Amino acid sequence: MADLRVTLSGITLDNPVIPASGTFGYGKEFAEIYDINILGSISFKGTTKDPRLGNPLPRIAECTAGLINSVGLQNPGVEKVCEEELPELRRIFKKPLIANISGFSPEEYEYCARAMDKEEQVGIIEVNVSCPNVHNGGMAYGVLPESAAEITRVVKAATKKPVYIKLSPNVTDIVSIACACEEAGADGLSLINTMLGMRIDIRTRKPVIANRMGGFSGPAIFPVAVRMVNQVYHAVKIPVIGMGGVSKAEDVIEMMMAGASAVQVGAANLVNPYACREIIEELPALMDRLGIERLSDIVGIV
Ligand code: SIN
Repeated sequence: MADLRVTLSGITLDNPVIPASGTFGYGKEFAEIYDINILGSISFKGTTKDPRLGNPLPRIAECTAGLINSVGLQNPGVEKVCEEELPELRRIFKKPLIANISGFSPEEYEYCARAMDKEEQVGIIEVNVSCPNVHNGGMAYGVLPESAAEITRVVKAATKKPVYIKLSPNVTDIVSIACACEEAGADGLSLINTMLGMRIDIRTRKPVIANRMGGFSGPAIFPVAVRMVNQVYHAVKIPVIGMGGVSKAEDVIEMMMAGASAVQVGAANLVNPYACREIIEELPALMDRLGIERLSDIVGIV
């Protein structure tokens, strides 16, 4: 029988499929349509120290084979997340969670990491240094090896949980940033976040997105994600969670062959709310067809 189990920093997941942060909220809406306990884990909506209303509307632009978002880290703030969202999520999802945190200063990252460190259900802290939709924070920390390493050190000092740094593709050399995070103590890496993109409404002659630009995701960016996961996999010794345009079981296999120990599914959840379930259901038959007994055997074979 096909063995879908994978391990991230000592945490064994039933399968590698994880909804990506910001595309699954805190799981509530999806739990109404299927049993979300079939998922490997959930990376819940990015949390900041203070509540955020997000960017002005419109903040979504549809594109061929993807979409641009400029949500702007809308979330109720870390206190409310811990007091209200996580207890509710605990009732409907019984496995370790991935806590995605963001900040506008090292102190804010530290604050969120300390809060998530106290949450028993949080298995991994995923540190977003790659949000393209906010100024003076977000992606600003992820575009240089030095600042990405600084945030890594700050978060590592604030928690005993495994720390995964979520990297931006909007850089010249993702490998140097990945290596800097590893050297600074990161336990793993998540990549890629969205690619900076823009659409223009040719009738109004204005950008479609109120914030002008946003993060492009969806099937169109999959080859870029596979390339970056493969480059980073060969440069570091820590596990990589691969993401970027994954929308079917074949993509999961390809991403794992490139070097991902687990895979996040993002934009596909917005197009088809059953995407993660369908991928998990299709994986065993696909593995049989490809002669794969254990998914963990194919990690980084290319
Ligand atoms: C957002 O909330 O703007 C998206 C988060 C991200 O791309 O990191």
